[in-house]
Amino acid sequence: MADSRETFLVNAFVTGWPVKHSRSPLIHNYWLKQFGIAGTYKAEAVSEEDFPAFIQGLKDGSSGYRGGNVTIPHKEQAFRLADRPDALAKELGASNTLWMENGQLNATNTDGYGFTANLDARHPGWDKIDRAVILGAGGASRAVIQAVRDRGIGEIHVVNRTVPRAQELADRFGPKVHAHSLQALSEAMSGAGLFVNTTSLGMDGGEVRQIDFSPLKDDAVVTDIVYVPLKTPLLAQAENQGFASVDGLGMLLHQAVPGFEKWFGHRPLVDEALRDLVIADMERHR
Ligand code: ATR
Repeated sequence: MADSRETFLVNAFVTGWPVKHSRSPLIHNYWLKQFGIAGTYKAEAVSEEDFPAFIQGLKDGSSGYRGGNVTIPHKEQAFRLADRPDALAKELGASNTLWMENGQLNATNTDGYGFTANLDARHPGWDKIDRAVILGAGGASRAVIQAVRDRGIGEIHVVNRTVPRAQELADRFGPKVHAHSLQALSEAMSGAGLFVNTTSLGMDGGEVRQIDFSPLKDDAVVTDIVYVPLKTPLLAQAENQGFASVDGLGMLLHQAVPGFEKWFGHRPLVDEALRDLVIADMERHR
């Protein structure tokens, strides 16, 4: 006899190319289990040329997904293909979170939220500062600049090897944002209360130059959006010089929160057990 109750399964995805290294399934499946939600969250490897068709399947309902996360290299295309990008996504020209609502594809970018929520959790009061330094002007630095600016930090100094890239971001994100060369790093750091590394320096154990953090305020916090290894050479240097540090793993965990809430209707918590789960996975795949 057929069961008259229908189980309504909500499905979400993370798509990228490649996507197999993504830790998003681990995070969202942890929360699905925690809430006991009848839902799925799966990785979808989609090439750039297949991405428009993938999005079409989301829009017309044929894919069975309510929404999902988008990672490299699809963030810009996702923004362009969305029906209703929000103001954050529009300013960045990139989106990492998509969801269907009233037949329309909505898009936002939660990387900046992830960045500030991580600092709020691990170094409360970090935003009571007048000046921040952001090292790097690549794709990853944009959401950080936007989020720090939107917290009301007075001066944001973007320091980059290629100055025109930093200047482009200063032009994009408004008069509070200033561009500098690496040679001007020390000067840019003078009196700053927050230092953020958004470059790939030190990733996967790569070499990194010695940075003198002493121009920062004594109670400044140093953070890195690279989280492999968890303690990057830059964070280790900052700690050795007596500065507080916050690792980048929390940014990954917190950026997942708004998406989960959109798709599955519950706002999840980033707890230590989740953090430990992801760290254990990082150790396994070292
Ligand atoms: P993402 O989108 O992940 O941020 P990206 O666009 O390639 O990646 O940017 C990488 C950032 O790391 C850039 O700021 C880059 O500086 P340039 O704009 O001058 O290329 C910075 N970066 C990478 N390797 C570097 C190195 N060896 N020294 C200094 N900066 C470096």
